[in-house]
Amino acid sequence: MKKLLVATSLCVASISASAAITVPKYDAAAGQKIVENNCAACHGMMGVSVVPTQPNLAGQNVRYLFKQLRNFKTGYRINGIMQAQIANLNEQDLANVAGYFSEQKPWGAFAGNPATAEEASHLFLGGDKKRGVIACSGCHDPKGAGNAYAAFPRIGGQHAEYLGIQLKRFRAAGRDDDVPKDQKRFNDGAKEGDKGMMQVVASKLSDRDIKILSQFVSAVH
Ligand code: HEC
Ligand code: HEC
Repeated sequence: MKKLLVATSLCVASISASAAITVPKYDAAAGQKIVENNCAACHGMMGVSVVPTQPNLAGQNVRYLFKQLRNFKTGYRINGIMQAQIANLNEQDLANVAGYFSEQKPWGAFAGNPATAEEASHLFLGGDKKRGVIACSGCHDPKGAGNAYAAFPRIGGQHAEYLGIQLKRFRAAGRDDDVPKDQKRFNDGAKEGDKGMMQVVASKLSDRDIKILSQFVSAVH
């Protein structure tokens, strides 16, 4: 029961936190021009990337995309490559590119790893009460499509390598870990000093959980 309450309060906290994400009215055609010049080389013109550490962005919800771009801008999410890419873009530009990528068709899915798919699907859909692992599907949707209202990202069909890196970064933000200090990723707690939702979730995941979940999620659609 206590775990259930924790999971529920996490969801409530996130919804109130994301209610603060307001995306300015965007112009997708203006976004497209910026993408051509600044983003397509790594994320693909249609938001489908061929490099497994560079995320697919096609069909990602606009609030999540806009939030990440602002997080890079403010240094709340630290990544030298991305911070350099958007250094010269203003809020309206960020909204325009976020809007453009959100309107592209989602990218489909990878094959995953059939050997561990069943084990991973239990964690994804049901969590593991004994170890305090919270089910992913409650926030990210059983098909990995995310929740556009709450700005929970689409993760289904994302590159497994990228997913694994992000889970380790969330986990490292709460403890010493094998992730470089300048690549941790914070996310929003209910109040100053609290851990963010994904930091709480990732803190319970072992390296093996992260590996099999990332492979599984890359195949979910
Ligand atoms: C040189 C390659 C490169 C270029 C150019 C680039 N990106 Fe990225 N982008 C990355 C990498 C690598 C990451 C993953 C960063 C991390 O691990 O935190 C990323 C992450 C992102 C994310 C976060 C996605 C998520 O699922 O959280 C967004 C949004 C994004 N990029 C948008 C853009 C936009 C918009 C542009 C153009 C203005 C752009 N990127 C240009 C490499 C690039
Ligand atoms: C209580 C809600 C919640 C649960 C449960 C949850 N997530 Fe998340 N997840 C989020 C939110 C919110 C974000 C975006 C954080 C941010 O804004 O940086 C996120 C982001 C992520 C990302 C980064 C995506 C990207 O594009 O960079 C991954 C990967 C992820 N979650 C995987 C998982 C997995 C695997 C599980 C289950 C073990 C899980 N999540 C459980 C809410 C949740």
